[in-house]
Amino acid sequence: TRPDLLRVLICDEMNPGELNFDGFDIEYIPNMPREDILRRLPEFDALITRSRTRVDVELLDAAGPRLKVVGRGGVGVDNIDLDAASRRGVLILNAPESNNVSAAELAVMHLMAAARGLTRSDALTKSGKWDRKFLGVELKDKTLGIVGLGRIGSIVASRAQGLRMHVVAFDPYVSAEKFAQLGVDRAATLNDLLDRADFLTVHTPLTDETDGMIGAEQLARLRPGAIVVNAARGNIVDEAALVDALHSGHLFAAGVDVFKDEPPAADHPFLSAPNLSITAHLGANTVEAQERVGAEIVDRVLAALRGDVSRGA
Ligand code: MLT
Repeated sequence: TRPDLLRVLICDEMNPGELNFDGFDIEYIPNMPREDILRRLPEFDALITRSRTRVDVELLDAAGPRLKVVGRGGVGVDNIDLDAASRRGVLILNAPESNNVSAAELAVMHLMAAARGLTRSDALTKSGKWDRKFLGVELKDKTLGIVGLGRIGSIVASRAQGLRMHVVAFDPYVSAEKFAQLGVDRAATLNDLLDRADFLTVHTPLTDETDGMIGAEQLARLRPGAIVVNAARGNIVDEAALVDALHSGHLFAAGVDVFKDEPPAADHPFLSAPNLSITAHLGANTVEAQERVGAEIVDRVLAALRGDVSRGA
């Protein structure tokens, strides 16, 4: 370690690519235990994480004054206490573009898997039951309702159009022109979207506004036999309400990639809910996305640190 170098710690699993940059000492310790992060953080000018690492008051306090930048290798910054960081003058950066295609493709996979009972048939066949009674549904000519027509939601829309689905979205932050350009129908309200959708997928960040946004009332409003996908953040679709809607048979099926608390407890109701396919927050886990995320976030963090130095901070 050279004392004249700016030091960056990457504490979560990613593909950080090239780690030799002039003026920087970058240490990559995938899945670093939290107690080690807390202990070693005072040695670093920047920290790069994924969603696994909570950047909260405890961590920021442990870091002390040297920490200037936290880079989030991914899109969502809900694992970061933004107020606490800004009070300490710590800059937060993310990699907003790199894993959008992967996240969108995973959502489409969940949609198709749910429509055709993929995980159910897989489990039955492997347990020795040759069950051909399951009747799935086609996606063609069905309406996909998308909550959140941002970077990921728009890619999901284009893929769904390729499957000849009709796409309608609710996003009060996206202009009518953008809807028109994407060939997506604009739902004026969330209820309007729920009334029209055969399938529902959410692509918003987790905020106070979106936490529990799809609750019991909203699920009940969907037509019987609807399919719900959440590959965004846990609890945008209320977990208990989703489980109830699956047990009651109101929903045909659902797919989730995310939990409110990750990893989930061994007795989490999702794990025994009928017709629910689960992946373990794998939306961004592709070779391509992780290469891009690593490169994008390292690039952004180093640029910020360089800027800091040139400003004489
Ligand atoms: C994201 O917000 O981009 C994902 O959660 C990334 C991740 O898998 O950490």
